[in-house]
Amino acid sequence: MPDVPVFDQATVLAAMPAAEAIDRVRDAFVRHSTGEWVMPAKVYLDAPPDGDFRAMPARGDGLAILKWATSFPRNPERGLPVVMGTICVSSADDGRPLALVDARAVTALRTGAVAAVAAQELAREDAATVGIVGCGVHGAWAARCLAAAEYGPGVCFDPDPDRAGALAGELGWEAGGREDALASDIVTCVTPGHEPVVRAADARPGVHLSMLGADAPGKAEAEIEAVERCELFCDEWEQASHGGELTGALRQGTISRGRVTELGAVLTGTAPGRSSPEAATLFDSTGLAIQDLALCHALLEAHAEGSVGVSTVRL
Ligand SMILES: NC(=O)c1ccc[n+]([C@@H]2O[C@H](COP(=O)([O-])OP(=O)(O)OC[C@H]3O[C@@H](n4cnc5c(N)ncnc54)[C@H](O)[C@@H]3O)[C@@H](O)[C@H]2O)c1
Repeated sequence: MPDVPVFDQATVLAAMPAAEAIDRVRDAFVRHSTGEWVMPAKVYLDAPPDGDFRAMPARGDGLAILKWATSFPRNPERGLPVVMGTICVSSADDGRPLALVDARAVTALRTGAVAAVAAQELAREDAATVGIVGCGVHGAWAARCLAAAEYGPGVCFDPDPDRAGALAGELGWEAGGREDALASDIVTCVTPGHEPVVRAADARPGVHLSMLGADAPGKAEAEIEAVERCELFCDEWEQASHGGELTGALRQGTISRGRVTELGAVLTGTAPGRSSPEAATLFDSTGLAIQDLALCHALLEAHAEGSVGVSTVRL
């Protein structure tokens, strides 16, 4: 068996500018929507009382991946990240292991990237200002990707003022309160999902809301009435209906499948996006393995071109 390259966190972040991550993630949604890339729904393995593991496979363009990653929302109290894990990349032609990749870096980049893609597709054409609610690891990457997509200025809100201040300082934005962030054109929420941060009144005409934090059953960042007031979009119906922002309203029967459009369908032009500048749009991201696959393609291509140095392991 040949030596397998290992892409650690620093290597991934150095190899992948936010703008490239955005383009790659956009392309992944198109390829999945057209059926070229395949992805079974992620499997959750509960790890009570503090978290869960997710097994996330996908295949496309000659690669097959399995991401094995965590969500342990209280981990920062222990000095550990919420999301950790490894992506195994194999050849889809003969099954050979091709790479091991740090899941933290890929997850951060692809999660931030989808916030930018959703804003580009679903926000008003004249949308500029950004509100970030939750300025932890993934909120910060969402902000960086939105800035790379030339949105801003932004308002960063987090109950931890140091986090909000650090992110605002990095991007030349401002730290502010929840109401300031929610008054922006493009609001991106990346909290642990234990309590609603978007209230019904926040679903006002013209706003775009990207909800990234509620990525598993039992989590929600928006009040159900806020969800009901919006034009609804998701990354993938099966995942979003079972463990995302839409689940509460679906369970109550106040929204149904027919009201929810997948982002890939908007990107391929098979479904409409926002209906008017006055609409409120809500995008529910649960996180897809095709997003990870897209970035693994980019990393292996960069490695093949000799533009990233990696260590190797022999399996
Ligand atoms: N959709 C996806 O693809 C995806 C990907 C990765 C992580 N996530 C989810 O995103 C969430 C955040 O993950 P993370 O790694 O950034 O965690 P983190 O702990 O690094 O950051 C969470 C931040 O939210 C802040 N926060 C807590 N309550 C808040 C509130 N009421 N209002 C505003 N901010 C609040 C915290 O202070 C913290 O700074 C988790 O639920 C995680 O599972 C989703």
